[in-house]
Amino acid sequence: SSQPFDLVVIGGGPGGYVAAIKAAQLGLKTACVEKRGTLGGTCLNVGCIPSKALLNISHKYEDAHKNFKGLGIKVDNLGVDWAQVQKKKGDIVGSLTKGIEGLFAKNKVSYYKGWGKFATKNEIAIDLNDGKKETITTKNTLIATGSEPTPFPGLEFDEKIIISSTGALSLQQIPKKMIVIGGGVIGVEMASVYQRLGTEVTVVEYLDNICGAIDLEISKAFQKILTKQGIKFLIGHKVLGGKNLGNGAEVTIEPVKGGDKITLTADHVLVSTGRRPYTQGLNAESIGVKLDNKGRISIGHNFTTGVDGVYAIGDVVEGPMLAHKAEEEGIAVAEILSGKVGHVNYDAIPGVIYTSPEVATVGKTEEELKKAGVQYSKGSFPFLANSRAKANDDIEGFIKVLTDKKTDKLLGVHIVGPNAGEMIAEAVLGIEYGAASEDLARTCHAHPTLSEALKEACMSAHFKPIHM
Ligand code: FAD
Ligand code: NAI
Repeated sequence: SSQPFDLVVIGGGPGGYVAAIKAAQLGLKTACVEKRGTLGGTCLNVGCIPSKALLNISHKYEDAHKNFKGLGIKVDNLGVDWAQVQKKKGDIVGSLTKGIEGLFAKNKVSYYKGWGKFATKNEIAIDLNDGKKETITTKNTLIATGSEPTPFPGLEFDEKIIISSTGALSLQQIPKKMIVIGGGVIGVEMASVYQRLGTEVTVVEYLDNICGAIDLEISKAFQKILTKQGIKFLIGHKVLGGKNLGNGAEVTIEPVKGGDKITLTADHVLVSTGRRPYTQGLNAESIGVKLDNKGRISIGHNFTTGVDGVYAIGDVVEGPMLAHKAEEEGIAVAEILSGKVGHVNYDAIPGVIYTSPEVATVGKTEEELKKAGVQYSKGSFPFLANSRAKANDDIEGFIKVLTDKKTDKLLGVHIVGPNAGEMIAEAVLGIEYGAASEDLARTCHAHPTLSEALKEACMSAHFKPIHM
């Protein structure tokens, strides 16, 4: 119809598609423009989901390879059919992206497959993927265009030899050697996948610890565990440059504190030094939308861009580049546009690294509390003393709980250990509801479960644990 839309969302990633569905559920006439051809954005197509599929498969293979014998399970002729692994990953991704198309239909979100850009602040010009052009009018627009891998100067992505996470998820074969530049989340997740499958992986990290922003004690323990698994870390090293040799690559590095240069060679170099906001070809600046010094869309209170009726969320704005953060923001914008109160609590956004064991955190790290001069108490509990972890023969790691010294309120929970990513939800809920560690310590947890370790860590923060 010629009626304008109430909301046009540009970008069909977790921020955009969730905002579109929520807005439609709240009665707004809603459209979503996505150029990729499938919905779900980076997360479903080349991020969270395919990486977790490969992590799961490679974990199962390694488990069978290394641990089954000790458990008394006999397997012969264990091997990897890489083509089938890739097919399985593609099937998982395909079923999820089609599922979102189904949700759009169910909720009556108009889906435009094409490139969206601002003609005016109330007109979105779309270059449809089928070659046609169409302009739609709208009262409000939500920019949810996400992010892309940051290239490394001199090591241009060809996605064959010099790869981003996208290339790393779709390699033609399991490589013999891989260099990973950047020991952040993508670095350790992809290093884990290939190390488990037999690749010799070397991770070069500029800082003195991996996964920068996480609690230092957790980071150190995590690095030790990954090193024991066989991943080689060169921390405190900077990359000076590199060369794509056609059939492989070389990278020259140097200790940050000074020392001899080293040249490394490998079949592939994975560049995972961060992602940058994606705003190309959107024409946002021509209607008055401002970018900040990192190229992100600059937003004020309630995700406003300063241009009437134009909002922005997700990886393209400030904050952690996480799918669930983008989703929460998308829901908040839909609620705000429907005259409701939309809100995101940035103090209670969990972060999970899906290695084995997993790392999961919420709230403040010990370093952040020290820096802010907050008086805190600390409790911890090792999985070694948890009966379920013992029964599962999966005892590596520990839980660390940080609380306000006076009020006992939970300020941060940090876990390295089995199923940490599922377990952190309880801590997130605790922080969201303003719980004290005593509240969790006095809550009955089923036995034997890994979650009892969180209860015991809270007991350790407030009084004393039983099993240590
Ligand atoms: P995106 O998902 O990037 O979606 C933006 C979409 O907009 C894209 O599909 C793009 O094609 C489209 N677009 C851009 N410009 C236009 C335009 N002009 N017109 C039409 N369409 C346009 N996060 C987690 O929380 N957990 C994880 O386990 C996790 N794993 C990850 C693993 C990898 C390898 C990577 C790369 C990322 C991972 N992330 C993870 C991060 C997560 O993918 C992002 O935080 C999330 O996708 C951001 O959502 P978004 O909606 O803001 O943007
Ligand atoms: P990142 O910011 O997590 O890590 C980048 C790392 O590279 C940092 O440790 C940094 O110190 C290092 N680095 C930067 N420049 C370097 C250089 N020149 N030489 C050596 N090291 C250098 O970024 P990453 O891993 O690329 O991930 C991008 C985003 O994707 C992250 O923000 C993350 O939130 C998201 N993501 C989330 C996942 C999850 O939630 N499980 C999984 C994968 C990605």
